Amino acid sequence: MRFKTIFPVVILVFHVNCIHAEFVTAGVVAVGSAITAGLLAGFNVFNCMINECCNDRWISTNFTDLSLTLRSKLYGQHLVTEPVLKHLKGHSRETPSKALVLSFHGWTGTGKNHVSRIVAEKMFVKGMKSKYVHLISATKEFPHEEMVSFYKDKLRDMIERAVKECSRALIIIDEMDKMPPGVVDTIKPYLDFYEELGGVDYRKAIFFFLSNTAGNDIAEKTMRYWNEGVARESIKLKEMEEVIRLPALNIKSSGLWHSELITKNLISSYIPFLPLERKHVKQCIKDSLLEKKIFKSESEIPDAVVQEIADELEYYPKDVQLFSTTGCKRIHQKIDFVMETV
Ligand SMILES: *[C@@H]1O[C@H](CO)[C@@H](O)[C@H](O)[C@H]1NC(C)=O
Repeated sequence: MRFKTIFPVVILVFHVNCIHAEFVTAGVVAVGSAITAGLLAGFNVFNCMINECCNDRWISTNFTDLSLTLRSKLYGQHLVTEPVLKHLKGHSRETPSKALVLSFHGWTGTGKNHVSRIVAEKMFVKGMKSKYVHLISATKEFPHEEMVSFYKDKLRDMIERAVKECSRALIIIDEMDKMPPGVVDTIKPYLDFYEELGGVDYRKAIFFFLSNTAGNDIAEKTMRYWNEGVARESIKLKEMEEVIRLPALNIKSSGLWHSELITKNLISSYIPFLPLERKHVKQCIKDSLLEKKIFKSESEIPDAVVQEIADELEYYPKDVQLFSTTGCKRIHQKIDFVMETV
């Protein structure tokens, strides 16, 4: 800023003293602008050392740590870990052809939020607190069905601002199934194969849609495999995607009802979260006990304690008690309850 005020003085001096004033003036102006630009660039480099910027220092494309964490901290979800990693890696190439859109489906507590958070924590230095990670809760932001047209503008505005600020933004829309029908289609252009829209390139952005939609269909299919004695790990992504796609399109309260995001194939992949069995829940219980520092290491945790906490949860179907109806969700409260009484 200070340069601008100095220039007129410098220019004036040269005008008085020099015959070739104009020539020199041009030179001074050029040198001045170069210095200003240099200082600005220097300031930006310095600024981005301390404050979060939309660059590689703050947003990682090294997926080693993410992959280790997903493999060790997400249980019973073979159709999530590898596909999500593969999509993120593929999309992190120089210029992806479109925004990455992953639609997460499954019962509550199966890990949709857990995975979103792990991805945010591992990709962004500031994790969920990053100004480039946006968690949009449909129930909080879009509660009234009669306000669809207002919500369309609101959602469009949120997405535009997020990606303008950082082309590599991560936008998580939670409880998609609570989004009034039609609202989400407003973001269709940003998920499409356009190089730019209004001067903004949306292709590097990442979207996660989270919903319970098709959770029952996923559970039913998983149950059928179990009844036939087929290992859950042999369920293929392709067949589950088909199990999800139709309900998502046809159930009015899916957030994607009759959505062009589905019919125009703008959703990169449907990611099924299978209902969790008792053995998976037990692993979550152990993690929570360690997280709460109730025990120091896994080997110290008595099986009886894990068993007792697991027994506090509800299972479905009633006769075989196979799947936890709340997955790993209510474990923290159950731990508090059980540890209080021992
Ligand atoms: C990625 O991260 C891992 C662990 O954090 C590190 O060992 C590895 O060298 C990194 N790879 C690259 C290419 O930077």
